[in-house]
Amino acid sequence: MQVTVSSDLARSVVSDALVLPVFADKALEGPAADVDPKLGGVIASALADGEMQGKPNETALFHVIGDLGVRKVLLVGLGDRAKFEPAQLAQYAGTAVRHLGKRNVHEIAIAVPAEAKDPFTAASFIAEGAIVGTLDTTIYRKEQERPIDVKSLVIVAGALDRGALDAGAKHGKILGESVNFTRRLALTPANDMTPRILAERAEAVAKETGLGFDSLDEDRMKELGMGALLGVSQGSSQPARLIVLTYDGDPNSRERLALVGKGITFDSGGISLKPPENMHEMKYDMSGGAAVIGAMRAIGSLKPKINVIGVVPASENLPGPDATKPGDIHRAMNGKTIEVINTDAEGRLILADALAYATMKLGATRLIDCATLTGAMVISLGHVVTGAMSNDDAFRDEFLAEVKGCGERYWPLPVYDDYLNQTKSEIADLKNTGGRPAGSLTAAAFLREFVDGKPWIHLDIAGTAYGDKETPYQAKGPTGIPVRAFVTFVEAEAREGAPGDGVAAERPTVAV
Ligand code: BES
Ligand code: MN
Ligand code: ZN
Repeated sequence: MQVTVSSDLARSVVSDALVLPVFADKALEGPAADVDPKLGGVIASALADGEMQGKPNETALFHVIGDLGVRKVLLVGLGDRAKFEPAQLAQYAGTAVRHLGKRNVHEIAIAVPAEAKDPFTAASFIAEGAIVGTLDTTIYRKEQERPIDVKSLVIVAGALDRGALDAGAKHGKILGESVNFTRRLALTPANDMTPRILAERAEAVAKETGLGFDSLDEDRMKELGMGALLGVSQGSSQPARLIVLTYDGDPNSRERLALVGKGITFDSGGISLKPPENMHEMKYDMSGGAAVIGAMRAIGSLKPKINVIGVVPASENLPGPDATKPGDIHRAMNGKTIEVINTDAEGRLILADALAYATMKLGATRLIDCATLTGAMVISLGHVVTGAMSNDDAFRDEFLAEVKGCGERYWPLPVYDDYLNQTKSEIADLKNTGGRPAGSLTAAAFLREFVDGKPWIHLDIAGTAYGDKETPYQAKGPTGIPVRAFVTFVEAEAREGAPGDGVAAERPTVAV
């Protein structure tokens, strides 16, 4: 999709369709007020008689007969005016693209509401949301029912600063495409998404965006003593990979942020086999890894001044003849031994070696991992918000503050030492389950043992990485969480400058 910016007034736009914002107070103002006289007052009347109430992502479509440069006008609701946040513009644009795209519209002009004060941010959210809205999840069908093929999106922004709008549109396009890239990886079933294929996709991203790339095979893992990762992979005929993407945006700094993502391309549970009902959803168990690769794709294109590495341990978890048996003990790269009580708690095992490798060999000074790690997360926070656990409250709070307006939700959860006690083994250093109480937090306490005391945040995306409900702005299935948060955080850190640089870098004028 081509995304451009226009300084035209809403009433003089030429396109297939024009999208206008309406708030829940049903006031006729902004771009809608500009267009309504040309429509003979139909918007005013739809608002007055309650046909359009301005609820979030509500739509009303009008066909235009008369002297307007568009054939269709779509009203999209933005909800309570007083609660407006720029991130809502992503949903606003996504709703518009899905509604019109499914009805054979190929060119869309979309008006920026007067509430959006910052042009860079507004254009970025609109471009991102529009692109995210185009992705259809029926990618394996011979023919799609209502294919969305929006070729051009024009952001109609009146008097807002043109340079900032252009930069924002470019930014949002990269982010939206990276979110979709992640969603496509996650959607792809496990027979087409093995660890080897995931590594190939990462390599292609590295080539496209100029990132460093490495992919460790099982021989190298053995040499490095990655017994935990290998212990998961030994139940499958598909060999594991440890994928590494490197972005050196600030060569003068020794700081290196590691993004680590769980890449279980299929989780059957292993010998501790899962029940069949929802097992097919476990193709999504590499969503964390897909998000790391997608975020690195965006970072490689946006080129912020910061060093970031992406690390993805990729493996299947299957009950093959050589599979790990409950009671088996594996030694992780950092020397800690782990008694495997339940082979279905495999995510923490592969992450253990990935976190250790990032700290011991790749020079990570801070780490953020993301993983579809525990079913307990779905019980505690549902599909609404991602839990953030950490060994460093200041780092976690900084992350939470910086990603607040990014369009994804995060909430802190504690990692008290008591939780670690639940994962101590009788025979080894650790065991891989901590019982039913606080399952997400004992998993976090386990992971903390592999970061060597470095500031670290763990995002458990088990409830948020994918959903079974379509929304007006996004197809059902993978959400791309936490790509937006990763990119937002990395850019915020790059603007602040590396600690010890002496000067906090000035924010670029476009990125407010
Ligand atoms: N991938 C699952 C967690 C999961 C469950 C993600 C449901 C999304 C939806 C993970 O590998 C797992 O099986 N975790 C176990 C751990 C338990 C055995 C300690 C769980 O949560 O049941
Ligand atoms: Mn599992
Ligand atoms: Zn899993």
